[in-house]
Amino acid sequence: MEKIDWGSLPFGYFKTDYNVRCYYRNGKWGDIEVSSSEYIPMHIAATCLHYGQEAFEGLKVFKGKDDKVRVFRWEENARRMQRSADGIMMAKVPLELFREMMIKAVQLNWKYIPPYGTGAALYVRPLLIGTGPQVGVKPAEEYMFMIFVGPVGPYFKEGFNPVKIQLVKDYDRAAPQGTGHIKVGGNYAASLRPATRAKEEGFASVLFHDSRHRKFIDEAGPANFFGIKGDKYITPKSDTILPSITNMSLRQIAEDMGMKVEVRPVPVEELKEFDEVGACGTAAIISPICLIEDRETGEQYKYCEDGKAGPKSTMLYNKLRAIQYAEEPDPYDWVEVIGEK
Ligand code: PLP
Ligand code: COI
Repeated sequence: MEKIDWGSLPFGYFKTDYNVRCYYRNGKWGDIEVSSSEYIPMHIAATCLHYGQEAFEGLKVFKGKDDKVRVFRWEENARRMQRSADGIMMAKVPLELFREMMIKAVQLNWKYIPPYGTGAALYVRPLLIGTGPQVGVKPAEEYMFMIFVGPVGPYFKEGFNPVKIQLVKDYDRAAPQGTGHIKVGGNYAASLRPATRAKEEGFASVLFHDSRHRKFIDEAGPANFFGIKGDKYITPKSDTILPSITNMSLRQIAEDMGMKVEVRPVPVEELKEFDEVGACGTAAIISPICLIEDRETGEQYKYCEDGKAGPKSTMLYNKLRAIQYAEEPDPYDWVEVIGEK
């Protein structure tokens, strides 16, 4: 294995030694298979290729201060993947199968788990696809569930340094009553054009309006949005955003730090009232936001003008990271030890 510069890993694909796969055929899941191939042989009429029968997850494994290896809230990801499967008529992966395959994938690639202190983590990417052929628009009868892993750094190259975000109104990532609340590939396909444009125009990510009323904040590309106002942690309530496990965790931490948590529609005009704003997610962790620019009106909302994350975001970030890296006890039972050294 070539030497890995753990401290400067980007968030990206990293080839490791093995991945694990399991097939659903004739109404049941088969045996877990280990593969060293980066490819999947597939039927040309597989429904994932034609009709987007595809869902994925993203979770992280951390090597802690005590050298134990922990996975963060895997059961929430496994349940969300079941909801995604349900939403687009795919076979559901049982929680135990999810867990067993996840642990196997991590164990087989143990040497790729970033050491404690590097700020990196092992990213676990479960993928569920319709592999059975259909030409009429129908759910497949066969599915593949697979998991690959790879070491990653933070999603935004800025890490915990504030990023600039572009608020857009001319694209939606998901329709009202569509698939925005589940983690299916089509939502991400729909985000590619506005997200690429935002990057070309100098922003780290795009911030979507809600697609029903067109006046509330939805989410920030691949992450949820939150704002801090005084001692309040405020985050959008919307049917078209992905219920983020990171956001759920931050709400709990915020409450336990004595903050008030509000989950409600957040009108765009409220952007001027926040003391701090940020994007949160497994990949993004917490990305503080220093500037939001409304692409349509040119209006700018500025935060942390000293170039640093605000105090509340910093406290939330530190607490979450301390639990993930076992620097502090985990009072919530969020982490599960899956091995040592
Ligand atoms: N929103 C979207 C669209 C995402 O893709 C993600 C990433 O999974 C999130 C939010 C954050 O969710 P989580 O904290 O569960 O990773
Ligand atoms: C995650 O945060 O795990 C994600 O899946 C976000 C993104 C890479 C799609």
